[in-house]
Amino acid sequence: MAKVLVVYVSRTGNTEKMARYIAEGLRFAGQEADLKKVTEIKDEKDLEGYDGYVVGCPTYHRDMTAGMKTFLFIMQRANLVGKMGGAFCSYTHSGESGPMIFDTMQHVFKMDMVDLGALNLKESVIDTRDGIKACQDYGKAVGDKLS
Ligand SMILES: Cc1cc2nc3c(=O)[nH]c(=O)nc-3n(C[C@H](O)[C@H](O)[C@H](O)COP(=O)(O)O)c2cc1C
Repeated sequence: MAKVLVVYVSRTGNTEKMARYIAEGLRFAGQEADLKKVTEIKDEKDLEGYDGYVVGCPTYHRDMTAGMKTFLFIMQRANLVGKMGGAFCSYTHSGESGPMIFDTMQHVFKMDMVDLGALNLKESVIDTRDGIKACQDYGKAVGDKLS
C-alpha cells in the first residue's frame, strides 16, 4: 500500500472539503492517505515517508496564498524528484492557484504528475454530487497510478 500526503490551505473550508474527498478517492484506490494543513508541515522532515503528494490551495487575489508559497520552498528542500503528484484548488472566477502549484511540482520539483492536470473546482460545485465525484476520481487517479 502506497502512502500519500494531501496537504492544503483553506481559509473558509472549501479547499479543505476538496482535500477530504480527494483523500477518500485515494483510499478507494487502496492507498493510505494522510490529510494535513500546510501549517502542520514545519520542515522537509515532515514530508518524509510518502510515495505521493497532492497539494491544494484556494485562489485569492489571482494567486496562491503566502502560506502555500512557504510550503513550496519546504517541498523543494525535500527533493521529491520522481514522486507522484497532483494539485487542486477551489475558486470563484479565475482559479490560478491549482495550475500554478501543478506547474511548480512538474517543472521545478520534477515530480511525476497525474495526467489529469490540476483539479480546479468552483466553490459552488464542491458539495454537489458532481463535485464530490470529481474530487474522489482525482484522488483515485493518483492512487491508481501508484498501484
Ligand atoms: C478577498 C478574496 C479574493 C478572492 N480572489 C479570487 C481570485 O482572484 N480568483 C478566484 O477565482 N477566486 C477568488 N476568491 C474566491 C476564493 O478562491 C473561493 O471563495 C475559495 O473557494 C475559498 O477557498 P477556501 O474556503 O478553501 O478558503 C477570492 C475570495 C476572497 C474572499
